[in-house]
Amino acid sequence: MRIVLIGFGTVGQSLARILTNDRDWLVKNYGFEPQVTAIADSRGSCRDDNGLKLDLALKVKEKYGSVQKYPGNSERKTNTHQIISGTEAEVVIETTPSNFENGEPGLSNIKESLSARRHVVTANKGPLALAMPALLELANHTRMQLRFSATVGAGTPFLNFASKCLPGEKILGIHGILNGTTNYILTRMDEASLSYQKALAEAQEKGYAEKNPDNDVKGLDTAAKIVIIANWVLKRRISINELEITGIQNLGPKRILTAKKSGARIKLMGRLTDSRATVKPEEVPADNPVCVPGNLNAVAFSTEHIGDVTLIGRGAGGEETASAIIRDLVDIRSEYSI
Ligand code: HSE
Repeated sequence: MRIVLIGFGTVGQSLARILTNDRDWLVKNYGFEPQVTAIADSRGSCRDDNGLKLDLALKVKEKYGSVQKYPGNSERKTNTHQIISGTEAEVVIETTPSNFENGEPGLSNIKESLSARRHVVTANKGPLALAMPALLELANHTRMQLRFSATVGAGTPFLNFASKCLPGEKILGIHGILNGTTNYILTRMDEASLSYQKALAEAQEKGYAEKNPDNDVKGLDTAAKIVIIANWVLKRRISINELEITGIQNLGPKRILTAKKSGARIKLMGRLTDSRATVKPEEVPADNPVCVPGNLNAVAFSTEHIGDVTLIGRGAGGEETASAIIRDLVDIRSEYSI
């Protein structure tokens, strides 16, 4: 499988590391032998139709802050159009930062890739939050795969669980914690009495936060994930503009303490019912299965016959997100033998 990698930040680099370290294991277990033929970051790109050396690309990125100094066929500017259409590849992986205003540059990258008849694997929530129905239609029309496991729960397979493990069961609603950064911040404010700013700085250091952490703390990241679950699992064609969203940026220590005294924790909850989709801080009883600490995510799927089924796992971080991308690639390979 030949791959073009657009975006080489925390997630793209983690992916390159896993593909390098797990190479033999992936071949042995899945017959999966990826070759990355181009990498583009915001400052430049590099390309080799016979496959780039990922360990070298990582070193160049670390030393110069861009892959543009990769020896040989590299460019000082990033012309994603040329890279997507002009590189030998079956799959484009899109990991540019999520932009919830207009979805760019990810939206154009995904559209262009599908139109150029490349399968797309994305970790970018922006384009899906704004235009998921149209993108699914384009993928269907071009007969290409659009995969996005990494957009919800990072490596924890919430989307696969809901769409593949509950056939024949009606999912009536969904609620839970879908953002690792805010959960980490709220947990540290609660357990270590840290200030909001200090806890946010820690979350950023750990690589959980979005490039623009406003998207996490103002609830947009959670809202995007609710939109993706609604469209994919419940076939509800909503976009992010239809959600009621309140973030955690104005929460003080007092509210956290008051909740604690009554045996609860404040959590940024995403909720999807028949009639409403909301994101807001809520008091959650400490013994509720979705009341998880640290950067964990927890989503409860409320079903007709088996009640609530809750899935818990790490929902943020480069390696965790890269793991979901590999899952999508392995899936595409098993379907198309590429
Ligand atoms: N910033 C996101 C989070 C990353 O904290 O959950 C995963 O989408």
